[in-house]
Amino acid sequence: SSDEEGSEEYLFKIVIIGDSAVGKSNLLSRYARNEFNPHSKATIGVEFQTQSIEIDGKVVKAQIWDTAGQERFRAVTSAYYRGAFGALLVYDITGKDTFESVRKWLDELNAHSDSTVAKMLVGNKCDLESMRQVSVEDGKSLAEAEGFFFIETSALDSTNVKQAFEIVIREIY
Ligand code: GTP
Ligand code: MG
Repeated sequence: SSDEEGSEEYLFKIVIIGDSAVGKSNLLSRYARNEFNPHSKATIGVEFQTQSIEIDGKVVKAQIWDTAGQERFRAVTSAYYRGAFGALLVYDITGKDTFESVRKWLDELNAHSDSTVAKMLVGNKCDLESMRQVSVEDGKSLAEAEGFFFIETSALDSTNVKQAFEIVIREIY
């Protein structure tokens, strides 16, 4: 029916990538269900959630995919990225190594997706200011150099979580 065609037109796939334990699964559960799990287990394989948002009076559905940061728990890489319109590249502001890994994740994303994918660099765990190892400036300048959006978030206290997803969804739309 025309209804189905209408809804299909606005279904966008978004992928979340980044090292293990940076908070990918909690960003998604905070956004989609307003839930946070202080004892969450490492993701095995792939999970996804579909979230509807209204933009300019139209309902846009985002199908948000979350995978394991750990290589041994990952599913088929090419299938994960296939058809993605947006990507959140997540690091943990309290772990410099996770910021240094962004390059590796970006290379993988670029190898498996179109260069037009809307990208958001996300520095998560900004509630842990006293443990910060990556400055806001370092995040910003990497994002600027690569032409990404940039935001710091906290899945724990909800800071900027909605914005991180919705800026990407609006850019795609
Ligand atoms: P993998 O599935 O292994 O790739 O990890 P992940 O990136 O999905 O990390 P996950 O969401 O499971 O979170 C890892 C740990 O960090 C958990 O103990 C979370 O409770 C914690 N965590 C996630 N986000 C935040 C945050 O914004 N602030 C704080 N303080 N802790 C967080
Ligand atoms: Mg996970």
